Amino acid sequence: MKTARKYKICVVGAGHVGLVAAACFSKLGHKVVCVDNDRNKIQMLKEMSMPFHEPGLEALVKRGLKRENLNFLFSLTEGIRSSEVIFIAVGTPPKKDGSADLSSVENVAYTAAKNLNSYKLVVGKSTVPVQTGKRIQEIIENNKDNGLKFDVASNPEFLREGKAIYDFFYPDRIVLGVESKKAENILKGIYSLVKAPFVVTDINTAELIKHASNSFLATKISFINAVSRVCDLAGADIEKVSKAMGMDRRIGSAFLQAGIGYGGFCFPKDIEAFAYISKKLGYEFGLLREVRNINQGQVVYFLRKIKGKLGSLKNKRAAVLGLSFKPGTDDMRFAPAVKIVEALSQEGVNLSLYDPKSMGKSKKVLKGIKRVKFFKSPYAAVAGADCVCFLTEWDEFRKLDLRKIKKIMKHPFIADGRNMLDKKKVLAAGFEYFGIGR
Ligand SMILES: NC(=O)c1ccc[n+]([C@@H]2O[C@H](COP(=O)([O-])OP(=O)(O)OC[C@H]3O[C@@H](n4cnc5c(N)ncnc54)[C@H](O)[C@@H]3O)[C@@H](O)[C@H]2O)c1
Repeated sequence: MKTARKYKICVVGAGHVGLVAAACFSKLGHKVVCVDNDRNKIQMLKEMSMPFHEPGLEALVKRGLKRENLNFLFSLTEGIRSSEVIFIAVGTPPKKDGSADLSSVENVAYTAAKNLNSYKLVVGKSTVPVQTGKRIQEIIENNKDNGLKFDVASNPEFLREGKAIYDFFYPDRIVLGVESKKAENILKGIYSLVKAPFVVTDINTAELIKHASNSFLATKISFINAVSRVCDLAGADIEKVSKAMGMDRRIGSAFLQAGIGYGGFCFPKDIEAFAYISKKLGYEFGLLREVRNINQGQVVYFLRKIKGKLGSLKNKRAAVLGLSFKPGTDDMRFAPAVKIVEALSQEGVNLSLYDPKSMGKSKKVLKGIKRVKFFKSPYAAVAGADCVCFLTEWDEFRKLDLRKIKKIMKHPFIADGRNMLDKKKVLAAGFEYFGIGR
């Protein structure tokens, strides 16, 4: 893949978004430097070692490093000075009050102002509340030391972890929030080889599109989870409800799977940040609070169901299969599994944990939690257990030998937090089983 015009791009933040964008921009033929203030991460990347699991990413990074159109730097100053376009892809974590912590974004804007050695286009790729672009503009305008021109733009990212490379090259749309024709043309040039429709808007609108999209997806999940609770009470089957609802093209089948709720770095924080900024602007977005409440309630509900089946939890053994917040990634940020493991441990349950990809990260995140042991295979984890909880819908779990599991468990009881197993088969194999809403 080669673009007609190659741009010198600096991507700030070598995380799930920044590193993917940097590697993909280099595949498109641009000259890319990826900067991060985490020295270890930069060192790892220079040595071609990946800081997180993302299918296909390693090959792209290696390719870029070998062809020398992808480089990793610790120095933000150097990255900015050597580039024409700066993509800000740093974290925007939640503050205690739910608002987005924009200090990293603002820091990059300030450094860009102080290193404006030529025209620069500064593009927000991180998920930020509406009006952040304006703030970036102000910071650069108020801190630059010369009369050189710059533009600010917003290009929110919609990739899914685990499918990030595919999503970069085949997105449903590319949103460009711009305030000048020059900025629009540069961004269209950068993405010229990606076959996707551009949605060109002003910066505020582009920023809002991202918050609205994530909030809507989270709303779909909480909606179906609320329906699943009614299904459980009424004796109906949420799987069939979801399927039939999803077949209606006005609704669509995506994000209609009931379970223990959403997690990850995006939905929980983006819902809070969107509610916060809406309120600040004068609108109380109560629906989003309820989306969050329903989501948090799913974990509580799942735990209550386990207790209902097992009775006293003290000294029972539970195997937990799946820890990352979703399959295809080792990301443990806001993973529902963390809350479930913590709660079961507090009740005196001994826990045997297994995940195909996130064992390294899980050990760090769950450090200090009592009665927790990690196992190298799902079978080793379930041996001797009173209950096995499926918390992430990894494909490999669907292929497990149920007969073997039944033989090695103390009690054949499955708590399916993702409705991922074939209920009929599980019951036929002689297990006690519960899912969510089925
Ligand atoms: N993870 C996703 O699936 C996803 C999808 C779309 C959008 N987003 C958004 O993209 C942004 C980044 O998310 P992420 O998942 O890549 O986060 P991440 O934590 O994986 O990566 C952020 C990186 O930025 C670096 N960083 C922070 N401050 C810095 C600074 N001042 N200078 C240089 N580097 C700095 C951190 O060291 C880290 O490596 C967030 O706003 C997020 O909401 C994430």
